[in-house]
Amino acid sequence: MDSLVEKINSLKKEKNAVILAHCYQNVEVDEVADYVGDSLYLSRMAKNTDADIIVFAGVSFMAETAKLLSPNKKVLLPRLEAGCFMANMINVDSLRQFKALHPNIPTVCYVNSTAAIKAECDVCCTSSNALNVVKNLGAKEVLFVPDTYLGKWVEKQLNGQVKVHTYNGFCPTHLRLRPEDVEKSRLEHPDSKVLAHPECHHTVSELADFVGSTKEIMEYVKNTDFKEYTIATEKGVFDRLQRDYKEKTFYLLSEKLVCQNMKWNTLDDIYNSLLREEHEITLDKETSEKAMACINKMFEITQPLSVSGGK
Ligand code: 13P
Ligand code: SF4
Repeated sequence: MDSLVEKINSLKKEKNAVILAHCYQNVEVDEVADYVGDSLYLSRMAKNTDADIIVFAGVSFMAETAKLLSPNKKVLLPRLEAGCFMANMINVDSLRQFKALHPNIPTVCYVNSTAAIKAECDVCCTSSNALNVVKNLGAKEVLFVPDTYLGKWVEKQLNGQVKVHTYNGFCPTHLRLRPEDVEKSRLEHPDSKVLAHPECHHTVSELADFVGSTKEIMEYVKNTDFKEYTIATEKGVFDRLQRDYKEKTFYLLSEKLVCQNMKWNTLDDIYNSLLREEHEITLDKETSEKAMACINKMFEITQPLSVSGGK
């Protein structure tokens, strides 16, 4: 009797499918994933794969972005429930109201947003390239949606060169952290480096030793020789670091750092999704064209859409 992993792998071969997995997913998903990483890396993989089917083990805005980048491929989201709380905090009406308050200023849109929102914005960004996108845009003022904390963090890094007007969205998972959590952890583990995601409240980021995207946090661990690290982002990153760096010690800043939406997908769901080819992402032509212009502008002003590396 074949194991579930074997069954998924043979279906992948039969259907010429790839599985892309975000590093916040349940760690068991990596057993079948072809590529595991952050949203920018996975976007590149979605664009460059020659597979016919992409199964996106992540949340819906990520699967939508894969569909935008690979319109001729079938893109499947194993669980329809997997949305993003932050992405759902903005809709087209509230975006238009926000833009009306600050007319004639370019709008930068975090990739954690629906295609309909991207379609109304000038340029997209991910947490890995938000700073470069805002810097390279060359504007004195920008609107930043939907994450207020990533927007504020970018503004701070630019030392007043750009005024960033932020929409009032946020990530409930990262916002569960309080500065007291960092202070407590510093007392318990004084030698541990605290690594935080810029979606955290600024009072938390300000106390961290390093602030960066999920990919940057993982690279920081890879490229430094400290013995202990405290992770202030979703638990999936902590789980993978613990698995991959046995010689180092990791602490999760809070047990509350779990994004329920990212945890929907199980191996069973991935198997069923591939077997039944559900749930397929579809987007209308007009929205897709406009959203694509927003994503293309991001690659134009940062790095071209080339590929490197594997899982
Ligand atoms: P990345 O851009 O690092 O993949 O993060 C996405 C996300 O949802 C963070 O909460
Ligand atoms: Fe959205 Fe936050 Fe979950 Fe990331 S961690 S997918 S921003 S709710």
